[in-house]
Amino acid sequence: MIMKITVIGLGFVGLSLAAVLSSKGYKTFGIDIDKKKCRMISEGYPTFFEPDLEKTLKKGLKNGLIISDDFSLIEQSDLVFVTVGTPQKANGAIELSMIKNSTAKIGKFLQNTRKNPIILIKSTVIPGTMKDIILPILEKNSKKKAGKDFGLISNPEFLQETTSIRDTKFPHAVVLGGYDTKYMKKAKSFFSKLHPRTPIITTNHQTAEMVKYANNSFLATKISFINQLSNICQNIPDANIDDIAKTIGLDPRIGKLFLNAGPGYGGSCLPKDMKALINFANSVGVKPILLDAVENVNQKQIQQIVKTIEKKLSGVSSKRITIMGTAFKPDTDDVRDSISIELIKKLLKMKAKITIYDPRATENTKRIFGDKIFYKKSAINALDNSQCAVFMTYWKEFERINDKSINGMKRKLIIDCRRIFSKGRINAEYYALGIGK
Ligand code: UDX
Repeated sequence: MIMKITVIGLGFVGLSLAAVLSSKGYKTFGIDIDKKKCRMISEGYPTFFEPDLEKTLKKGLKNGLIISDDFSLIEQSDLVFVTVGTPQKANGAIELSMIKNSTAKIGKFLQNTRKNPIILIKSTVIPGTMKDIILPILEKNSKKKAGKDFGLISNPEFLQETTSIRDTKFPHAVVLGGYDTKYMKKAKSFFSKLHPRTPIITTNHQTAEMVKYANNSFLATKISFINQLSNICQNIPDANIDDIAKTIGLDPRIGKLFLNAGPGYGGSCLPKDMKALINFANSVGVKPILLDAVENVNQKQIQQIVKTIEKKLSGVSSKRITIMGTAFKPDTDDVRDSISIELIKKLLKMKAKITIYDPRATENTKRIFGDKIFYKKSAINALDNSQCAVFMTYWKEFERINDKSINGMKRKLIIDCRRIFSKGRINAEYYALGIGK
């Protein structure tokens, strides 16, 4: 009999997974409570930009991928992946309402199924959530027993936006957390067929939940480390953080990735997961000194940029400042927790006149700022009349900016947080994060 797979929550993780599974020929159902989103996706259009996603989704739809808001599809399913968001509350703690609602619904439909499905939780949740919250909700609503009538496995996801299709197809590891039951054996066999070359780590729920935070907090630590060094370098004449990163990255104990100094880490995961982990550590009586410092460095980074702008412009009030790049990283239209958005907010408070250019994220930026700032359709237009350009996101097309492109600037002052022009290719008053003056 053909295996049927349901994916609940069609954000980056869920939609990538549903698209990849269906494109590989698995009978897949993608469920989301948002009807409008479901309609767009079932017509082949993801609700956000992600390289290769549309192509993979279209292939999946051709293979019979069903997108729906109907949770009863769970009754036919052998595997149910939960990929709903776990955002954060104002105090940094994790917000579990979406996962609680969706597991309650899953429980209700588990009651009717004659199958013994496996529920796999991909959403990032703090250690203990599976045991203390998800399992009781599922058992109560289904009137069935986990481990006996259905399987329950923690299966954290490590995909990165902009490479989500590749990461879904070829993850660096598969983590399966839960009890050693027949369901665990089944899940192991499913994943070893899906990813024949990927190591599978089996462990308990709490460890699997913690692995995800360990992963993301280590990445955040690497970024804050290089950002701190970058700040030191800026005070050593001609010191260059990129040469330092490149060299230490050759040491296999360090590794070359995530050593790109910049305005700090943003996006929908690292900042949120760091705050959730810090909050959790405090709640179990551990003072997270290192993690606090990592976050602190991240927050200071933007203050440093504001200070530099202020100093070079002798105050920002009513000055025309252009922000180049608002996406939290290149090749995405995502501006969630983007440092660039934070910077604009701060500069607006200080009464600067802001113009932005981003090759993909303009629409999402408009949703935040409306008519409070100006939006331009090209880099050159955005630079015209500007008194200061701040490069925040390393979009490849920015490499084409040259002396001619900045001709219209009122004052040729460039603050380059990504060192796009650090090789001296531009004739301007030039300040680069991580390069000593
Ligand atoms: C991250 C994790 O990498 C991924 O494993 C997890 O599943 C989700 O969170 P993502 O949010 O897509 O993925 O972004 P990532 O590529 O990690 O970048 C996060 C932020 O760090 C961005 O603002 C980026 O610009 C910044 N960053 C990253 C740096 O400033 N320097 C680096 O060297 C790397």
